[in-house]
Amino acid sequence: MELFKKKKTAGEPERTGLPRHIAIIMDGNGRWAKKRGLPRTAGHAAGAENFRKIARYCRDVGIEYLTVYAFSTENWSRPDDEVNAILGILENYLEEAMERMRKENIRVKFFGNPARLSPKIQELIKKADEISRDITGCQVNVCFNYGARDEMVRAMQTYAEEVKAGRANDITEADVNRYLYSADIPDPDLIIRPGGECRLSNFLLWQCAYAEFYFCDTYWPDFDEAELDKALEAFSGRQRRFGKVK
Ligand code: IPE
Ligand code: IPE
Ligand code: MG
Repeated sequence: MELFKKKKTAGEPERTGLPRHIAIIMDGNGRWAKKRGLPRTAGHAAGAENFRKIARYCRDVGIEYLTVYAFSTENWSRPDDEVNAILGILENYLEEAMERMRKENIRVKFFGNPARLSPKIQELIKKADEISRDITGCQVNVCFNYGARDEMVRAMQTYAEEVKAGRANDITEADVNRYLYSADIPDPDLIIRPGGECRLSNFLLWQCAYAEFYFCDTYWPDFDEAELDKALEAFSGRQRRFGKVK
């Protein structure tokens, strides 16, 4: 990533620098496959392969947190064979992660409601979480059976239980944060959506309050290191004000 090694020249506006936290909506797998005359499931397999590559690249350029949207709470309404293929990909990825996380210095965390997933996947999620504890490299949050509204409802339910038990009586922004999957990490600085759609599709609605957005037409399986560099370059040119005057 040459951009961040470049010295600032006189008169050049302040650069935003490298984001600490990137979030990606991995969209366009189905259309990628269709364009090649392949079944949609082949697109998901290619998308998963690309995710592995991009996660390693993020680690290498010094991104601290990468959050990826892999399966939404709404994606259950797709055909069974497609949903089952995606569940199979998640299981494979988690199994592989058991062995690779330490070697690759990548911490894998799960963001989402595990209740609807198989006992085997739930067990793998727990194990990945345990192994992650002593890994220091890039943290990769896999959002699966994730919906931002579901995340907020679950947070409110947990909070209501705390109030009932007499452990809480006031609610602040920090409290809301505490009950979200992302409780321990900073908000995303940059949200990337490949695949041509310009919407959030129920992704990180609370956390993206001050995120920068980057949309592009490339389908996710083709979104390679050079495409990520383009997004990082666009981000570095943004001026973030957070409501202040600069
Ligand atoms: C993203 O790709 C993966 C999931 C939503 C699970 P899509 O499957 O949505 O691909 P398109 O948008 O149909 O091309
Ligand atoms: C968003 O993509 C969810 C994921 C990428 C996992 P979708 O393809 O489900 O979004 P919509 O339906 O086009 O909004
Ligand atoms: Mg899609």
